Amino acid sequence: MFRLFFVLFLAHPVMEANASATMLLFWGYPNPSSRFCRDKSPAGAFENCVDLCLGSDPCMLAFGNDSTCIICDIFTIKYIAQSNYSENTKIAIKVNQQNQCPGDVQSIQYTKSDPYGNSYELSFNGSSWTVTYPKSCPLGGFRMFPRTVGPYCIQVWRTTALTTRNDALATCKKQSKGAGYLSGITSSAEIDYILDMSQLLVRNVTNYDYLAVWISGLMKPECQPTQGAGCSGINAFKEFPGQTTFDYYNFPTGYPNFAMRGTGDVYLRCLQLLMAQQKSAFDGKVINAACEYACNEAETICSHLVACGASAI
Ligand SMILES: *[C@@H]1O[C@H](CO)[C@@H](O)[C@H](O)[C@H]1NC(C)=O
Ligand SMILES: *[C@@H]1O[C@H](CO)[C@@H](O)[C@H](O)[C@H]1NC(C)=O
Ligand SMILES: *[C@@H]1O[C@H](CO)[C@@H](O)[C@H](O)[C@H]1NC(C)=O
Ligand SMILES: *[C@@H]1O[C@H](CO)[C@@H](O)[C@H](O)[C@H]1NC(C)=O
Repeated sequence: MFRLFFVLFLAHPVMEANASATMLLFWGYPNPSSRFCRDKSPAGAFENCVDLCLGSDPCMLAFGNDSTCIICDIFTIKYIAQSNYSENTKIAIKVNQQNQCPGDVQSIQYTKSDPYGNSYELSFNGSSWTVTYPKSCPLGGFRMFPRTVGPYCIQVWRTTALTTRNDALATCKKQSKGAGYLSGITSSAEIDYILDMSQLLVRNVTNYDYLAVWISGLMKPECQPTQGAGCSGINAFKEFPGQTTFDYYNFPTGYPNFAMRGTGDVYLRCLQLLMAQQKSAFDGKVINAACEYACNEAETICSHLVACGASAI
C-alpha cells in the first residue's frame, strides 16, 4: 500500500492519504482520554499504528508515537488537545478525502461520513478540537456504536435475580424508559463491550460454567418443530430491531439446537451471548435457549444479564 507520509509537521495538521481514507495528522491527543480506546502497543513506528486504524472500519483515530499506539473508535472521543513536539504524541484522525490541508484549520470544517450516517465533524478553536456527532443516545449510560442503520446505542444491565428472557426484555424496556429493546450484535467491538460490561457487573458470580446475556432474536415459527430449509445458523431467527447485518453470530457446535427442552415443554427460541466463568470454550459465542427459563436444564448456564439497545436520536 503506497501512502504519502509527511514527517515535517509542527503547529499545523498535514494530510496523509491512501486508497481507503485520508488522515489528518498533527501533534495532539484526546483529552479527556476515553476508557473505550484500545492500547495496541507495541505497534512499532507510529505509521504502523496509523495503518491499524486505517485497517479497521470503526476506528476514528490513532495516537501515540514510535513506542505507544492507542486507537479509538468513532463515538468514543469528544475533545482533542492540540499540542506540539514537546509532548511527543501524534494523532491521526480519519477525515473525508475532499477536505483540504494545510490551510486555515479554523475555517475548514473537517468531516467524516459513511453512507449510513455514522459521521462526525471536527472544529478547532485555536487550542482544542471538538468532535460533534449528529446523534446521541436517548439516555446516559448507553454507548454508541456505528451500524448500517446509523448510530446505535447499547447498555448492559445486571438483574438482581436470575432472569428469563421475558423478564430481561421487561428490564430493558423499563430501564431505557421505553426507548429500548434487546440488542443484537453486529461487530466485535459490540461483543467486546457487552462482555466487558458483563464482567464488571457480575465480578463476584463464579458458580456457573457460563453466564448468559440475553440478546435479541426469536426462532422463526417455520424452524420449529424441525429445522427446515433456510433455518441454518442465525437464519433460523427473526426480530432484530436496529440491525441489518449478522456476521458476528458464532454458534458453537450443536447450536442452534432445534430440539425441545428436556421432556418436551418448550423450544429453545431465544438467543444468549455467553461469557466464560468456569469454562471458556463458548466465551463470546451465541446459543439458543428457552425464553421461559433463567438457566439451561443442567443449570450450568444461567443469566443475570441483559443487553439493551436503542437507536440514537
Ligand atoms: C508516547 O506517547 C504516550 C501517549 O501520549 C506518552 O505517554 C509517552 O510518554 C510517549 N513516549 C515517548 C517516548 O515520548
Ligand atoms: C509546546 O507546548 C508546551 C506545553 O503546552 C509549551 O509550553 C511550549 O511553549 C510549546 N512550544 C512551542 C514551540 O510552541
Ligand atoms: C477551546 O476549547 C476547549 C475545550 O472546550 C476549551 O477548554 C478552551 O478554553 C477553548 N479555547 C479557546 C481559545 O476558546
Ligand atoms: C454479588 O454482588 C452483588 C452486588 O454487590 C450482590 O447483590 C450479589 O448477591 C453478589 N452475588 C454473589 C453470588 O455473591
